[in-house]
Parts: sequence; structure tokens; C-alpha cells
Amino acid sequence: MEEQIKAMRQKIEAAAAAITDSKEMYQLRKQYLDNKAGQISALMKNMRDLAPEERPAFGKIVNELKTWALDFFTAQDARLKAAELAKKNAAEQIDVTMPAPVRSCGALHPNTLIANELIGIFSGMGFEIYEGPEIETDYYNFTALNTPQDHPARDMQDTFYVSPELLLRTQTSSGQIRYMKGDDKTPKHEPPIKILSPGKVFRSDDDATHSPMFSQMEGLVVDKGITLCDLQGMLDEFARNVFGEGVKTRLRPSYFPFTEPSVEVDVSCFECGGKGCRLCKDTGWIEVLGAGMVNRKVLENCGIDPDVYTGFAFGMGIERIAMLKYGIPNIKMLFESDVRVLSQFHE
Ligand code: DAH
Repeated sequence: MEEQIKAMRQKIEAAAAAITDSKEMYQLRKQYLDNKAGQISALMKNMRDLAPEERPAFGKIVNELKTWALDFFTAQDARLKAAELAKKNAAEQIDVTMPAPVRSCGALHPNTLIANELIGIFSGMGFEIYEGPEIETDYYNFTALNTPQDHPARDMQDTFYVSPELLLRTQTSSGQIRYMKGDDKTPKHEPPIKILSPGKVFRSDDDATHSPMFSQMEGLVVDKGITLCDLQGMLDEFARNVFGEGVKTRLRPSYFPFTEPSVEVDVSCFECGGKGCRLCKDTGWIEVLGAGMVNRKVLENCGIDPDVYTGFAFGMGIERIAMLKYGIPNIKMLFESDVRVLSQFHE
């Protein structure tokens, strides 16, 4: 009998030695200690078959085995669970002194930076923002701006027509008409008028400095007694703010159907201070925008009396300003979404 018990102990020890998982150990424990099906419990049941005088000795041995097994499995369980916890802790360990992964922070597009800067400057001078639609009628984009059908000035702007009446606007100047005359969404506005109209415009143009889609910023001021001097004063303020103190403006005669007289506006070269360099092509001046006194016909088209009111208007290309200010050589770089380029510009 003692032999049998000893063999069972050894069997338990050998089986336990091969186990590395606490759940498996629990199954082994059940094999021996389960009240109903356990092998040690079964031994107890064998007691019935023994002679009454043999029973106390047998009971004692089996009880000792049971006590030993209980302690043994408790110890095994503790050992395995400790090992398992140690493994889990090791796997979940973090080094709080490790540098955190760098979170790259997005930035505004150079076009947006310039547009915001211009809006800031002009709203500081009292301009209100008005945005017109990108799909425009022939009337608002051309006819009302004193550029009727077959007017040669239409050739200055290669136009994408959607239908004979509808087109992708070629200039934000259409916003002047929508604001002054009104449309289905905009009420008619009477002077004093002082608006800034930013937005995308479209022309069938494509080279290093022209893109089929680009952005403009239009300005319009109409009131009693507005003169070209008011325009130049405002432009000086704009040039100083955008290109730096000491930058001067110069007006050159030009032609736009919706202004009379019309001018091209140059700023003195902010790179060389006017001495002549690569940026200003050795002229000392850089062309930045078109402007002029609002043509009488445009005011009449909008129901504003040109004998009482006068006004000036201007329009500039945002990409052009961005390219000049940031030294971007090709307009396409602004539309390629290359982060190596875009991440260089910050407010
Ligand atoms: N609309 C003109 C263009 O796209 C720019 C322009 C010139 C706007 C003179 C004006 C202006 O308001 O007065 O070429």
C-alpha cells in the first residue's frame, strides 16, 4: 500500500514538473483532488473493501497523501502564478524616460497665410469681406464690368465657359457688381462702399507663373470725393505692411475696361531696396497689382450716380504675392501639396 502511495506522489510530482501554466496545473489538481472523480478521493472510497482493522491505518496514509497534495498544488499554483505575473509585467513595461513620438503639427498653406494677412491689413482699414460665386454669369464677369460681348478686352482673359451664359469667373471683379447692384442673395448696396473680395478664379493659362486656377483679392471703395490719391495712400499702407517699411509704390498707366484711368501698381524692390537685382529684373520695381478709378459705366450699370460718387478698385493675385514674398519660383509648387515645400512657411 505504501508503495502505491509513494508511486502516486512521484507521478504527481513528475506530471507537475512538466507543467508551466497555472490553468493546466489546475486540471492536474482536479485529476487527483476532485471530490467526485479525483484519484485520491477514489482511494478513500476503496476503504470499504478493507477489513475493519486495516481501515484506520489506510485512512491515515490516504489523508496524509491528500494533505500533502493540497499543499503541493497550492505551492505549485503560487509558483506558476508568480511566474505568469512577472512575465506579464515584463511585457507591459514602459520606459517613461523614452522620448515620445514626435507629433507633427500642420500649418496653413502659404496662400492662406497671405490671404489672411491681406484680410487683416484691409479690415484694419475698414474693408468688409464679400465673397462672390466661382461659377459666374457672363453678365457679372464681363458685360456689367464694361466688357460686352466681342469687346477685345475679353481676349485678355482666356475663359472656361460652362455654357454660353455661364463661366468659371476669370476675376474677382465680378464681386464688385454683385455687391453694388445686388443679386438673388445680396441686397443692392449704396455708397459708402468699402469691400474686399477674396476667392478663386480660373483661366486657361498654364506656365511657371500662371495656373488654370489661382486666387485673387479684389478691393472696391466708392464714396463722394474718392480720388486716385486715396488709392495710392491705401496702396502705400498695404505695401509697407506686406513687404516691409520703406517700400514705396508707383503707378503706371494701363488699361482695364472697368476702370478709367487704369494703372499697374509696382512696389519698390524689397530685396535690393531699388538698386536692381534678380528679383526685380534689375528695374528696382516689382509689379504687384492692377487698379484704377471705377469706370462711370460700371457705376451706372449698378444704379450708382457717377456724377455724385467716384471710386477706386484694385485686384491682385494671391499666389503672385506669396511667390514674391516667400521666393517661390514656380506657381505649381503651391498646388503640388509637397510637404517639403509647404512646411517651410509659418505665420
Ligand atoms: N480683374 C483684373 C484682372 O484680373 C485685375 C484688376 C485690375 C482688378 C484693375 C481691378 C482693377 O479691380 O481696378 O486682371
